[in-house]
Amino acid sequence: MRTEPLGPQDPLAGRRILVGISGSIAAVKLPLVVSALAKRGAEVRCVLTPSAERLVSPVALASLSRQRCWLDADQWSHTAARPLHVELAEWAELVLLAPLSATSLGRWVHGLGDSLLASTLLATEAPVLAAAAMNTTMWASPGVLANWQQLQGFERVLPLGPAEGLLACDRQGTGRMAEPELLLLALDSLASWGWRRDWQGRRLLVTAGPTREWLDPARCISNPSTGRMGVLLAQAARLRGAEVQLLHGPLQVEPAWLEGLSCQRIDTGAELQQQLRQRQSGVEAIAMAAAVADHRPADPQADKLDKQALEAHLAAGWQMVPDLLQELVQQRPPGPRILGFAAHSGDVLPQAQAKFARKGCDLLFANPIDQAGTGFGAASNQGWLLGPGGAVEPIAPQPKLAVAHRLLSALVALLPPG
Ligand SMILES: Cc1cc2nc3c(=O)[nH]c(=O)nc-3n(C[C@H](O)[C@H](O)[C@H](O)COP(=O)(O)O)c2cc1C
Repeated sequence: MRTEPLGPQDPLAGRRILVGISGSIAAVKLPLVVSALAKRGAEVRCVLTPSAERLVSPVALASLSRQRCWLDADQWSHTAARPLHVELAEWAELVLLAPLSATSLGRWVHGLGDSLLASTLLATEAPVLAAAAMNTTMWASPGVLANWQQLQGFERVLPLGPAEGLLACDRQGTGRMAEPELLLLALDSLASWGWRRDWQGRRLLVTAGPTREWLDPARCISNPSTGRMGVLLAQAARLRGAEVQLLHGPLQVEPAWLEGLSCQRIDTGAELQQQLRQRQSGVEAIAMAAAVADHRPADPQADKLDKQALEAHLAAGWQMVPDLLQELVQQRPPGPRILGFAAHSGDVLPQAQAKFARKGCDLLFANPIDQAGTGFGAASNQGWLLGPGGAVEPIAPQPKLAVAHRLLSALVALLPPG
């Protein structure tokens, strides 16, 4: 698992994070998460249920968190001046509850505090990221589903439902805990945005990554977009409750960041155009973060060209790929609200203002691509958000996830009340 420090603005650096681990086999993945949190400068304390103690090593967790690990028996110490569950509950700024077993879910939802972890959860006022994990049939059982449903209404809780996959019990289905990389992203989101689900019930379409235009099967023209900004925007919207469709070109992001999104791979501008036409009427908002290659060979070839033929074909010229943002805007109303993206070098703002006036989308986020540490592929971004009535909001350099949340707040404010 790669851990990427997000620099001085890392939302987890210096935060006090309580990691609660219950009795699911997915507990074996938590040492990686704890290690990543410690490397990012978080203060981490782990609390295990008795079942979790049998599945993952408290010694490993203590070593990786650089802190002692708290077990159920510790709460009965006669040397503690205050009850341990209250101490831990008040210490925590954020709680990661992963994996969350069916039993621990039931205890929590029904207000039962019969273990150190269970009573700590009842006593804390910190926001909790809760990632469920269990066998497919357990997950589909009426009692568990009812408890999970009830959890959705809890204040300060960000519930992360299990994903589909091959489970340790050899079943294929829903039940797998969110991957560690997604847990870290959701924690970042909880730390930087919070737990409120203001996109609940909204449908959002996001485009991300580069498109490619092929001259022949061996050669294409594209751009350095990795898809990071668009994918983070899509996942942030999902964590805020949206139903998200993602149309994406070739991506260079953590595959786990795509969990919970309805993804469709595209390659060329024409494929993206076709998908947009099919889907645009079914959503309330579209975020056009894809970096669409804006020209293509006039005469693409099915077979690979040899060097001499290549020269002739390059001379044969290029044609423009249709302007997909403009096409979307022209087809309204009715139609979704549209957030456009613009990457510029040089003096960004005047170019962005001219583009915003020309395109007619609802919002335009313009970012420089010639500044070190931000833009294409970087963990951070910056720029200007242009909005209705000529509003211009400067966005200072910050992690792309924080930028994504700012853009989502601006976009949701334009939607009719849900
Ligand atoms: C090997 C093993 C794997 C288990 N995996 C899960 C699981 O993924 N999810 C779950 O809800 N229970 C799982 N269980 C059952 C729980 O450990 C059991 O229900 C226990 O009561 C949970 O208690 P706790 O929430 O206090 O840890 C597993 C049990 C064993 C022995």
